[in-house]
Amino acid sequence: MTAVNARAVEPYWVVVPAAGSGKRMGADKPKQYLPLLGKPLIVHTLQNILSWPGLAGIVVAIAADDSEFKALPQAADPRIHTVIGGAERADSVLAALEYLSNRAVPETSVLVHDAARPLVAKGDIEKLIGPESAAIALLAQPASDTVKRATTEHGVAVVTETLPRDQIWLAQTPQKAPLQLLKDSLQSGLRENPTAITDEASALELAGYRPQLMAACRTNFKITQPADLLLAEALLQQQRTQQGEPS
Ligand code: CTP
Ligand code: MG
Repeated sequence: MTAVNARAVEPYWVVVPAAGSGKRMGADKPKQYLPLLGKPLIVHTLQNILSWPGLAGIVVAIAADDSEFKALPQAADPRIHTVIGGAERADSVLAALEYLSNRAVPETSVLVHDAARPLVAKGDIEKLIGPESAAIALLAQPASDTVKRATTEHGVAVVTETLPRDQIWLAQTPQKAPLQLLKDSLQSGLRENPTAITDEASALELAGYRPQLMAACRTNFKITQPADLLLAEALLQQQRTQQGEPS
């Protein structure tokens, strides 16, 4: 099966998985609530998404024990809905897709975007929702470093192979697909090979589709470790300065 080329139904919905605990960040709260230039990280992400053209609404998947989301100003925005997420990212995305299934037609285009990626560029979103993109597509970054395959020998990582770099892309989000097709693919992927389902595209690939890769800016990195927060803060500060906002 190849990429689905039929145009998606507009307007589209955005699903934001935000139910993780941020283990690799090692902070005293989930990373989506850590301050970035004085505002929680997730507020930057939601404000960014709310500026995307053609948006119908956002479904945010939050943890069952989340006590912070309801205090955010965005919690009162009628375009923003919440559901309770699950144990893995795919479970959180599925919970949001279930919610959407009662509100949108099966062909509705859905963009899944990590709460931890506040810096996705508007131009890349326009490409992803524009006429050049297939109905199943994702933002990704072509590898710029040489990529090694490794194994562990006597507790030490050693190279077994250098991979052809022009075939390597690092998947980002948003990842876009029609609602019902994405839901079916995630459900069957989680049944058949749960550990292989680390993003929407992996489930769609397992279901036989070939998602289109759209080269995106590397500022769309996922905030994962403490150094990423510093980098994001510097980039957001630069954006503010360019837009003439007070720092
Ligand atoms: N996420 C989610 N539900 C989960 C796990 C993750 O909604 N059960 C969300 C995170 O909140 C994040 C996105 O998926 O916005 C990407 O996941 P990741 O960067 O791995 O975040 P965490 O799982 O929170 O971090 P870590 O893996 O370091 O614990
Ligand atoms: Mg995680």
